[in-house]
Amino acid sequence: MKIGVFDSGFGGLSVLRELLQQLPSFDYVYYADSAHCPYGKKPVEYVRERSFFITNELLSRGCEAVVIACNTATSAAIKELREAYPNIPFVGMEPAIKPAVAATKSGVVGVLATYGTLHGQKYAFMKEKFAENVRLIEQVGEGFVQLVEALDISPESESVLAVLEKSLRPLLEAGADTIVLGCTHYPFLLPALKQYSAQICPNRELRFIDPAPAIAKRLKSLVCPANSLVAGAAASESSAFEGPAEKKPRIEFLGSGNLIELKLAFERLCKLS
Ligand code: DGL
Repeated sequence: MKIGVFDSGFGGLSVLRELLQQLPSFDYVYYADSAHCPYGKKPVEYVRERSFFITNELLSRGCEAVVIACNTATSAAIKELREAYPNIPFVGMEPAIKPAVAATKSGVVGVLATYGTLHGQKYAFMKEKFAENVRLIEQVGEGFVQLVEALDISPESESVLAVLEKSLRPLLEAGADTIVLGCTHYPFLLPALKQYSAQICPNRELRFIDPAPAIAKRLKSLVCPANSLVAGAAASESSAFEGPAEKKPRIEFLGSGNLIELKLAFERLCKLS
């Protein structure tokens, strides 16, 4: 089975990395919309139009399910995509507020995401549903996406430290002990986020929540539900659901930008062991 995965750029590779770990029996087509990156502050209609264009590309390459590995695009388009393609399973991203609320001890949860995600209806809904008893502090990860696109992610990098100072420090100063990574680019900055936080709050037990593992589980449950025909078909293709995969997943890279750079980014960011 072939799965389509897309993002504005390299961010969705943090989801692809997890899919490859949890679902190695599938093949993947990854589309990076680099010529239109970042999506974060673009109008909803623009991001929705790009999401439709990319979905069509992925479906025309034979993908049978689509992972919208981008919080901003999910917020802008998943409802409309599901309506337009009722037979295609779509899995989207959403800030992991529910697990963060369950995990916080200080009662203060930080949410790092793009402007588009934080101002979307989906986020407002989740906030109302799950965050009643905690203090939620939102912060746009200004500059994070650009750093990841430039592969400038070292914890020692001065530009990295400058953006963390601006976006992460306010969350730490407000007492957050749990921070939701609400954009798929951000997990690539995790070593830097952790190192910086340990310096600012050496005695705080901090958690950063990356939803990628939950997304892979969700895809698995959708395309391989127990006792279904789909499960039978997928299982007959490989034994990956039961044990180590025999087959290496094929990954095809597509995009609106430089595909050589995309492949290099994949190799650098998704060093799979
Ligand atoms: N990685 C995307 C997200 O999860 C898009 C970030 C951007 O392009 O601004 O929202």
